[in-house]
Amino acid sequence: MTQKLYVKTFGCQMNVYDSNRMIQALMVHGFSQTDDPEKADIILLNTCHIREKASEKLFSEIGRLAKQKKKSALIVVAGCVVQAEGREILRRSHLIDIAVGPQNYHQLPELIAKYNREKGRLIVADFPTESKFDSLPMPKTSSANAFLAIQEGCDNFCSYCVVPYTRGCEYSRPSSEILVEAKALVKAGAKEIMLLGQNVNCWHGDEGKDLGDLIRDVAKIKGLKRIRYTTSYPSKITQNLINTHADTPKLMPYIHLPIQAGSDKTLRAMNRQYTVAEYEEIVAAFRSVRPDIAISSDFIVGFPGETEEDFEQTLALVERVKYASSYSFKFSARPGTPASLMKNQIPEEVKTRRLIKLQKLLQSQQRTFNEATVGKVLDVLLTERGKVKGQLVGYTPYMQGTVVRAPLKMLGEIVSVKIISASATALTGEII
Ligand code: 5AD
Ligand code: SF4
Repeated sequence: MTQKLYVKTFGCQMNVYDSNRMIQALMVHGFSQTDDPEKADIILLNTCHIREKASEKLFSEIGRLAKQKKKSALIVVAGCVVQAEGREILRRSHLIDIAVGPQNYHQLPELIAKYNREKGRLIVADFPTESKFDSLPMPKTSSANAFLAIQEGCDNFCSYCVVPYTRGCEYSRPSSEILVEAKALVKAGAKEIMLLGQNVNCWHGDEGKDLGDLIRDVAKIKGLKRIRYTTSYPSKITQNLINTHADTPKLMPYIHLPIQAGSDKTLRAMNRQYTVAEYEEIVAAFRSVRPDIAISSDFIVGFPGETEEDFEQTLALVERVKYASSYSFKFSARPGTPASLMKNQIPEEVKTRRLIKLQKLLQSQQRTFNEATVGKVLDVLLTERGKVKGQLVGYTPYMQGTVVRAPLKMLGEIVSVKIISASATALTGEII
């Protein structure tokens, strides 16, 4: 009988990618996936540490799963919470059997075998000199929209962020390795590849190649239809990358470009390396080559010292840029970051009020962006089943979730869809 693996992933797309690679590595060792935790032999939780709520969720989830699971099942925790907490995590929850950091998960099959031999709780959370990518198997299965990590870690040290501590310093994978993985994903069924990195546009390859050059190389892969990338750091955008949006049809007209705040004073305190004016120039440069490009961003409200006037400047920036979609958060003081020690922390109720106001504006912009596509015909890559039987969900080039009536066998296809209606969060359409 094969061993069963139940996986739950928290947080960002990099975590979804890491979970997939862990799954593929364990499949080589005879595991198969289940979506029922009660049947699992291994329960794997891949964790996120970016905001307070993300880490809290982990410990309540462990408690819940421990009651449901088979007695013999192991609880394995991976991801950024492990890196941030180190050995402390085993003390915080006696239910965890194995803990493995984001740079060590290639050792997971070996750690499980060791646990089964020695029955002692294990943790590995260091930054090894060898790259985990060297010893992971190539993906054999893939969804139509696949993720591929090309760059990892961050040297920017934004004053609020844990990523430089949990993911380590910046590292670019060699382009040869990326192309081999991209081809394997396409062979396994991927139609779209999302190139991932905490600072994806800081990727650099041999002979001074940048992300734009890499995208052009990936675009040459036969059978691959769409390319995306995320997350970009504004001041590191090159003209070459912008030009790629004009000369590479497979590159989708969408850019996630987090500004975080619309006040230069706040950006300085956040240690972001650009001004609001510089950010808007970059947006304009993208729009000059792809006037239809969808722009999205992350925002943090209630950063220490943020005044009402600073916040108003964020609203004004949003009014000027006009976002297609966005993610916005209340500032969360993360242990070990400079911003957690800053004076002038903003009261919770002020943060809440600002977040509600900002989200209302962002939502109305998202609705406007979506409504502008009603009546148009757009290509949609069908990637998931809908909530209702007989429906599938897919994405337009602009990353709008779109619901259509379609048989299950069309999953993974790109279809022409006439958009019938739009809300702030999704489109509905008919295949033509
Ligand atoms: N508090 C609130 N939001 C944060 N983010 C990162 N760290 C924090 C924090 N301490 C947000 C940023 C980032 C996104 C991934 O998460 O907006 O772009
Ligand atoms: Fe965190 Fe800033 Fe690096 Fe993004 S650029 S991962 S927000 S430190």
